[in-house]
Amino acid sequence: MIALSNKSIKKLIGSSVAATALCASGAFASPVITAYKVDADIKHIGVESSHWRKAKETEIIAYPQTTIHLNDKKANTLNDGNKAKKVKVKALTDGQNIAFKLEWADKTQSIQSGNAIKNTEFPDGFAVQFAAKYDDPLKLPYIGMGSVDRPVMVYLQKAVAKLFEPNGNGEIDKQVNRANSPYFQKDLEKFDIDVAHLARRSYQKAFVAEGFGSMTEIKDKSSEFLMDMKYKKSAFSTSGWEGSVVRPLNDEYVKIYNDPIPVAFAVWDGDKMNRDGLKHLSTWIIVEFDGVASNDKLKKEFDKPLNNANVKTGEELMKTHCASCHNYGKVNEAASAYMAPNLSNIGGYSTTPYLIESIREPHNAIVPGYNANAHSNFAWHYGDRASGMTSAMPAFDYLTEQEVLDIVGYLKTLKAEVE
Ligand code: HEC
Repeated sequence: MIALSNKSIKKLIGSSVAATALCASGAFASPVITAYKVDADIKHIGVESSHWRKAKETEIIAYPQTTIHLNDKKANTLNDGNKAKKVKVKALTDGQNIAFKLEWADKTQSIQSGNAIKNTEFPDGFAVQFAAKYDDPLKLPYIGMGSVDRPVMVYLQKAVAKLFEPNGNGEIDKQVNRANSPYFQKDLEKFDIDVAHLARRSYQKAFVAEGFGSMTEIKDKSSEFLMDMKYKKSAFSTSGWEGSVVRPLNDEYVKIYNDPIPVAFAVWDGDKMNRDGLKHLSTWIIVEFDGVASNDKLKKEFDKPLNNANVKTGEELMKTHCASCHNYGKVNEAASAYMAPNLSNIGGYSTTPYLIESIREPHNAIVPGYNANAHSNFAWHYGDRASGMTSAMPAFDYLTEQEVLDIVGYLKTLKAEVE
């Protein structure tokens, strides 16, 4: 046996197996969040609870959602220039409930006040998304709002100012800001009580959805949950938000046992005109339960298939088969920017199984088109929800399995730099 010096090993790796080395070194490894068990009822905790000290945080990345464009050129341009955001996540369980805490930097605190009605102000916000069915890791819901037959549950909180509503009808023009209130001294206490009773609650909502346009708010209390959101100003480091959500482990929409579950996270930056689908979004992140031996089929399916992908070949294949419709990264050759989703961040917010399925069976999860009415020449799908939808993208069933993996390996590299 010949002993190799470090230098010659480096040379060997450098020359022949650069692309494979990238994969073997864990470039495709998914982060995992651990939910820690506490011996206390966590049903009512918020961001400030001391229980969070028992959980270790995991850093995940939320990417600008560039597959979605609003009918607002300025907002779209701002979004295209956005970098990806780091979000620190902690998870807790008490055996009955599961709770998540998110922490992310945002130098500008944007709170929605009355002006939002005039569409000039947009709030910061966050969301946590659960897959209703997750037993088959190959068929998880589409990351942005689920897809037909693959529902999701979404908890959403927006930073909304508490406004005094004299008549409780939400007539913003007639609302009086506390700072300009006609109350003084002892009346102030009464004023605060009135505000607490009459103020519009901060915006906290739970939805179920099976794709865009199918979002349904759960208002009947069939699932109890609690959210919290606080801005932390810091003179020494970057200011930002903390947000938390608590929900039961099991309700009629999502059932969580001790097995790993996929959860996704999103944050909105009001200052960047983020709203609706324009946001920063993570891929499905695996959440596992501390101290519980469980199967890791989710993790295997997320990472394993790419170990033999040749990223360079994938890049070439994309130019031949995909660039006529899709723009991505520096490739800007699509016949029109409205032909197909921009894939510049697709590697950030998509799982490997989703990307494989998008190429082989594009009809399974259909991304809605940009401003369908404004750009009706570029329909992304035919048919509708009721009659069934067919994607405008052809199914690439003639590509070999290896070619698909190579493409997916390359797609996984498409993502914005982290800020
Ligand atoms: C004829 C135009 C066309 C070609 C060629 C094409 N696509 Fe698409 N693609 C679309 C359209 C339209 C959609 C949106 C509808 C949908 O989701 O199926 C889409 C959606 C996608 C999505 C999902 C995007 C998202 O945001 O989730 C991926 C991934 C994708 N294509 C990858 C590819 C790859 C890889 C190739 C080449 C092998 C390719 N496409 C070739 C038109 C095309």
